[in-house]
Amino acid sequence: MMNNLHEITLLVSKCQNCALHHSRIKSVPGEGPDNARIMFIGEGPGFHENQQGRPFVGQAGKFLDELLSVSGLKRETVFITNVVKCRPPGNRDPQPEELEACSKFLDRQIELINPEIIVTLGRFSMAKFFGQVKISQIHGIMRKIGQRYVVAMYHPAAALHQPALKSTLLDDFSKLKKYIHQVESEREIKEVNSNKYNSIVVEKKEDEDTPTQLSLF
Ligand code: URA
Repeated sequence: MMNNLHEITLLVSKCQNCALHHSRIKSVPGEGPDNARIMFIGEGPGFHENQQGRPFVGQAGKFLDELLSVSGLKRETVFITNVVKCRPPGNRDPQPEELEACSKFLDRQIELINPEIIVTLGRFSMAKFFGQVKISQIHGIMRKIGQRYVVAMYHPAAALHQPALKSTLLDDFSKLKKYIHQVESEREIKEVNSNKYNSIVVEKKEDEDTPTQLSLF
């Protein structure tokens, strides 16, 4: 039961746990490598996503591609998904019971992929991590939540309706580049330290337990 991303995709395609399945053409489980270090979480499929079964392929997706390039990321290296996997009719907000019914899929995707950084796109995925805060107060700021980092961004579609948000989003995504470097260097330091620790343990073992073996080499 949900041992890998493929199983989640299969379950999502057959899911009838909320009303959204009535009007879906294709479910949109999300896509990207199962070991992606960065995960983007949007709101829900729109018209084109519902047709194609892929996330962020419409207008908002075009802008997301531009934002990804500003942060030095290639789409195929990140995992992109949504809080709800089926299109809310007419692109209305997802309802609490729909978010609740779908959360087990997103939670398991996060567990399996285990990304270092989660980037939320819009209010609904932000609320999952930050609770009831104002996006205007926290956008673009990376926080550590539990074992990983989370950054809340405005939804790319918001900039299509409010042009002033375009430069805010471009700005926030250019900060993402710095955050990624920061997290990478933290990981490298951890790896160096754990290698040091392992070699100390090995040396000690040889010293203590096998003095005669040592002389063989
Ligand atoms: N908006 C979203 O939140 N997700 C998509 O996949 C497309 C548009």
